[in-house]
Amino acid sequence: MRWRADLARSWRLWRAFGLEQADPDSFYGELAADSAAQVDHLHPLEGTVMLDVGGGPGYFCDAFAARGATYFAVDADAGEMHLHGRTPGSRTVQASGTALPFAAGSFDLTYSSNVAEHVAQPWRMGEEMIRVTRPGGTIVLSYTAWWGPWGGHETSPWHYLGGKRAAQRYRRSHGHAPKNEFGRSLFNVSVGAGLTWARSVPGAELVAAFPRYAPAWASRMVQIPVVGEVLTWNLMLVMRRRHGQTAGP
Ligand SMILES: C[S@@+](CC[C@H](N)C(=O)[O-])C[C@H]1O[C@@H](n2cnc3c(N)ncnc32)[C@H](O)[C@@H]1O
Repeated sequence: MRWRADLARSWRLWRAFGLEQADPDSFYGELAADSAAQVDHLHPLEGTVMLDVGGGPGYFCDAFAARGATYFAVDADAGEMHLHGRTPGSRTVQASGTALPFAAGSFDLTYSSNVAEHVAQPWRMGEEMIRVTRPGGTIVLSYTAWWGPWGGHETSPWHYLGGKRAAQRYRRSHGHAPKNEFGRSLFNVSVGAGLTWARSVPGAELVAAFPRYAPAWASRMVQIPVVGEVLTWNLMLVMRRRHGQTAGP
């Protein structure tokens, strides 16, 4: 079946989000299948050598490999790679996205889903993704935007009063720190910051920027100040590696 960013697909994802805690296999399986289909649409995966930065447990490996990609992944955290009793793909390396252990131009496609907001230097990670992508190759960087309803992750919606305050409130009511703790494992990465970076980084040109889970007709939402920050939810940046340019400034 041809993949389409229509309202029915957004609704399917919305329903799957409700299963994250109770049935992680269904949730991550559905998200990974949708993500691979979406990326296949942007850069055909058959025969593509790709790197998933912050790949987590192997759900995305299965989904991308099923579409014919040769899938490599890095993740900074061994525990995350084995979450939900999963085994990461055999080509998975433990490393940080901000210092990728690969030579320049190694991949046709680099991808990252829901990782940049967990990294203190998200654009350093973006520049590493650009560096290891071959000239003419594709970079897809997607993250949960801070000012969206889920920006504070499990501390939402209190992050609107400040990330530190939201984390303190969570600690008080749950007796422990949130997994995604502001300033340690969760950072304020806005839609505006991503667009500014993607438009100005010398190593790649911005091809498209849109809300990842929304129908295609809502794409222009990311351009609207304030409203775009809140409604975009998750910003997907699609970039093309330039020839003969260094990856970063
Ligand atoms: C929310 S999970 C996303 C997993 C998967 N990409 C997805 O979309 O479901 C964030 C992942 O990023 C990883 N991560 C966090 N900081 C990282 C870094 N600096 N470099 C590489 N991976 C990192 C975490 O270990 C975790 O597996």
